[in-house]
Amino acid sequence: MLKHLEKRRTFKIIGDTATPSGTPDVTADELDTILASAGNAPFHYPCDRTHMETMPSPVPWRCHKLNTTACHGLMQTMLEDGDTTKVPNMLAAAQYLLQVTWLPDPGTILGDVTSKDESVFAGTLRNMEHIAAGSAFIQSLLLAGEAAGFKTYWSSGGPLRGKAVFDALSIPTTELLLGSVFLFPNEPENAEIKAGNLATKRGVVSDWSRWCKL
Ligand SMILES: Cc1cc2nc3c(=O)[nH]c(=O)nc-3n(C[C@H](O)[C@H](O)[C@H](O)COP(=O)(O)O)c2cc1C
Repeated sequence: MLKHLEKRRTFKIIGDTATPSGTPDVTADELDTILASAGNAPFHYPCDRTHMETMPSPVPWRCHKLNTTACHGLMQTMLEDGDTTKVPNMLAAAQYLLQVTWLPDPGTILGDVTSKDESVFAGTLRNMEHIAAGSAFIQSLLLAGEAAGFKTYWSSGGPLRGKAVFDALSIPTTELLLGSVFLFPNEPENAEIKAGNLATKRGVVSDWSRWCKL
């Protein structure tokens, strides 16, 4: 049942920064068709009106799009800034990078957005549901991207969530990164392909679901 759900998988494509991939076949219009489909994800609360001053939609997510040229430009900037992660290699192989943010309610960003240990934002019910809606959007995006022939990767972002990259891409710091979504060519050349670390660890349905008896 629903084979496209069962087949979705993470693929991290590690390219060569000395020879980044060529011009893509899929056009910006086709990318927007993918986004239009994924944008049907459910959302419960509208974002705060302050977020609508830059983009008018009430959905609690935003999608900042980089085409191949912009991916290569960001790759170059990161290399010049001394980045030693695999992100520049993935930018070398990517056809698109989508910086997907969620929109916290005003005054609820608390701390360092790159910290894994500190409170980054206030855990209000509304914020939780903004994140849930944004996550539904990203999952839809992965599925739509795969259906269009891409290999996809939802990354936490690492250096892509920091202020330097947000500033370089003119992403407002009132938004928080929910995922850096890489769309890679389905058959990359001269690149290493890595699967998701937890891809085979899910178990079966009875390992994470139970019937409630009354
Ligand atoms: C919110 C979120 C953030 C993720 N961030 C990373 C990441 O930073 N690095 C990584 O290798 N995989 C990341 N992943 C992908 C997971 O590794 C992958 O989904 C998992 O290993 C299961 O593999 P599958 O997607 O192929 O089923 C992330 C997934 C989610 C949902």
